[in-house]
Amino acid sequence: MKLLVTGGAGFIGSAFVRLLLAERPDCHVVNLDKLTYAGNLENLAAVADSPRYRFVKGDIADGPFVMDLFAQQKPDAVVHFAAESHVDRSILSPDPVVRTNFYGTFCLLEAARVHGVARFHHVSTDEVYGSIEEPHDADENYPLKPSSPYSASKAGSDLLALSYHTTYKLPVTVTRASNNYGPYHFPEKLIPLMISNALEDKSLPIYGDGKQVRDWLYVDDHCRAVLAVLEKGRAGEVYNVGGSLALENVEVVRRILRATGKPDSLMITVTDRPGHDRRYALTSDKLERETGWAPLMPFDEGLSRTVRWYQENTGWVGRVKSGAYREYYEKNYAGR
Ligand code: NAD
Ligand code: TYD
Repeated sequence: MKLLVTGGAGFIGSAFVRLLLAERPDCHVVNLDKLTYAGNLENLAAVADSPRYRFVKGDIADGPFVMDLFAQQKPDAVVHFAAESHVDRSILSPDPVVRTNFYGTFCLLEAARVHGVARFHHVSTDEVYGSIEEPHDADENYPLKPSSPYSASKAGSDLLALSYHTTYKLPVTVTRASNNYGPYHFPEKLIPLMISNALEDKSLPIYGDGKQVRDWLYVDDHCRAVLAVLEKGRAGEVYNVGGSLALENVEVVRRILRATGKPDSLMITVTDRPGHDRRYALTSDKLERETGWAPLMPFDEGLSRTVRWYQENTGWVGRVKSGAYREYYEKNYAGR
């Protein structure tokens, strides 16, 4: 089985590639990634020399390039992670977000349709449902009401992918996961930013009143869910992937301060994000019922593992912040 994984150099994509190569000895992976600021081949150092792994640098929104790649590689299946994934960046600069998340998904779907693949798995987010009022939890039929250019571009790409199933019978599946956390997470999202700032005794900026609720999913639990849907999910279906604990942001930050041994005085309140969603909440009953998946990592254990990883990998944090991994790419991969 040959899988084309897009965005495999990012946070979740790299965890998925590591999991797949470790647990599925019959799988070969082609990792297509543009290596934006968020893509880092250091995340894949453990598998870089595997004969079952190959890296291709390229842009999913370059239609002719993507079509050629499918013709050359002939993947059996596609697992599509590549995206501009940060809400704040999407507010400041929506152009690359729409281009990659919507048009890039279109280019992949077209190539998958023309060349024929046995499965196209599209990785999406709970943010497509928008803010959800208590006491409701979104199931897969909940209306889509995205708030940011990021979540709207993901909602659009979900619908486009599903339309390829309805119209062309492309065997598409979609997962919508809640907020991920874990090692190799770029330090711009809440948990890795707060950990790296705390470790450097910098202030921890809380948007607004900090009472927004997110449902935290350990990255490896998410990757197991994607694998479960790839192997057992039904074509044309959407599966929610919820986390192990929903918490207000201030509580997450307090736990990070406790885990790093830093004082609460590092927390500061800053201007709220425009269009900030108050609460995300999901039910993953369908995924659990159809595949047997369940989140395994309790939040506090996942958080202490993550804190430990950032304490032990300050070099990685420094390099991704400065963009120095590009030198690593030139040294190790360019021309391969
Ligand atoms: P990330 O930002 O860490 O990684 C994205 C990867 O995509 C990077 O390696 C980047 O280089 C690559 N990429 C970006 N634009 C590209 C392009 N035009 N062509 C090829 N490659 C490109 O993101 P992540 O957090 O790992 O998220 C992966 C996927 O999971 C995304 O689709 C995201 O919407 C979804 N998701 C993320 C979360 C989360 O909490 N992080 C939760 C649910 C769903
Ligand atoms: P983030 O990690 O950006 O994920 P998302 O917006 O996709 O949920 O943010 C998680 C929550 O943390 C969100 O409510 C915004 C908030 N937040 C802060 O309060 N301060 C920060 O510096 C960041 C990055 C996020």
